[in-house]
Amino acid sequence: AVAHLTLDPAFSVAPVDRRLFGSFVEHMGRCVYTGIFEPGHPTADDDGLRGDVLELVRELGVSTVRYPGGNFVSGYRWEDGVGPRGDRPRRLDLAWRALESNAFGLNEFMRWTGLAGVEPMMAVNLGTRGVEAAAELVEYCNLPDGTAAADLRRKHGVARPHDVKLWCLGNEMDGPWQIGSLTAVEYGQLAARAGHAMRRVDPSIELVACGSSNSGMPTFASWEATVLEQAYDQVDYISLHNYYDPEKYDEATFRASAVDLDGFIDDVVATADFVRAKLRRTKRIKLSLDEWNVWYQSRFTEPEDREIEELPALIEDDYNDTDAMVVGNLLISMLRHADRLAVGCQAQLVNVIAPIRTEPGGRAWRQTIFHPFAHTARLARGTVLRPALTAPAMATGRHGEVPAVDAVATHDEESGALTVFVVNRGTEPVPLTLDLRAFPRHRLARHHTLTGETAVSPGSELVLPPVSWHALCLTPEES
Ligand code: AHR
Repeated sequence: AVAHLTLDPAFSVAPVDRRLFGSFVEHMGRCVYTGIFEPGHPTADDDGLRGDVLELVRELGVSTVRYPGGNFVSGYRWEDGVGPRGDRPRRLDLAWRALESNAFGLNEFMRWTGLAGVEPMMAVNLGTRGVEAAAELVEYCNLPDGTAAADLRRKHGVARPHDVKLWCLGNEMDGPWQIGSLTAVEYGQLAARAGHAMRRVDPSIELVACGSSNSGMPTFASWEATVLEQAYDQVDYISLHNYYDPEKYDEATFRASAVDLDGFIDDVVATADFVRAKLRRTKRIKLSLDEWNVWYQSRFTEPEDREIEELPALIEDDYNDTDAMVVGNLLISMLRHADRLAVGCQAQLVNVIAPIRTEPGGRAWRQTIFHPFAHTARLARGTVLRPALTAPAMATGRHGEVPAVDAVATHDEESGALTVFVVNRGTEPVPLTLDLRAFPRHRLARHHTLTGETAVSPGSELVLPPVSWHALCLTPEES
């Protein structure tokens, strides 16, 4: 059985939005402390920001980084993390039952985003706090001077506003594990009120309402519908979170995780558009997949079952090649939905279910999942194209028969570069043929796989090995 792919610029989805290649830094485990921040580390600068990690973050090609949580944000007082370090309180973080020194906070994070070359995406606490603290945080971040919070930032040595555009209205507020979780009506009303006040401070900000914590939540879809009915006019995005556990279902189901993500995204689009029709609005809500990844969740110990610690090594999952193929395929699914999905944040960036790992005081390294992310972030340029694809089927326990091969392409009109991202998620090798009728002068120039980079001579046959990820770079031949 062979796979056959036809590419045509007429089958375009949307421009590639760089925000799809975002990530996430939470005060959780060793993501911040001994992850991106470790005073005294041989590569750290005067502010304690690890240079080796920054280098890997730049190589990863991350565009946008969400901060400071996650579950952590729902008990967080942002004021604890600003001002002179010696005055910052030590707190018990209720989300992870960890001791929080507050040595790292907002201004350190903003400095780090500048060095990493990424856009910050801030979350406000709608668990234990509300409208006032959220509006003051926007004031602290975005107003130049002349108000209490803006002047406080200046007093803290930061003259220029941080000018944060993207804001999350809380985190996973439907989850019973969330500190201060709410019903959909309660949360929708609070999100509308907080969003209204935050925009009074800075009308240029973009707001993300919490969708369901995952598509398996019992209230999934009705949560989204109710929240949007309450907050439609105040928000721009609805969030999606989904983690794929290699040990939850049969292996084939895991390898085909992108089938689940495709359905999840389609369902949230349909729900948002249902509310649009119901409320007779013209605006369309965009989607923010602001937590996604492979996570061996069945190995996770609940916070209640752990002792309170300062730097617990939480969910430091090791990834293999199958996990990397799945990550590559999830990115294919995200690109395919670029017409509605505008933000993506892989969770998390360092140590905690992360592409980058570190040893305290020691080295930093790339996990397998680093590679498909870095290549996709670097090579996906221009416009997303939806290929017409025929492929052999594979059986999965959860989704029935699905195509063993999945693909998406991007076309950079300026340089002419055409890149095809393709996976074989089955266990048999599959020969691949390309029909480039609309790109007659394009030839295969480079072929990246999970195992490295191989130059392939034009015209050579391409066989996709079992469980593999590929980026095929085609460039127009000089005439
Ligand atoms: O990324 C780890 C945790 O997973 C986040 O804190 C939370 O939002 C999600 O449940």
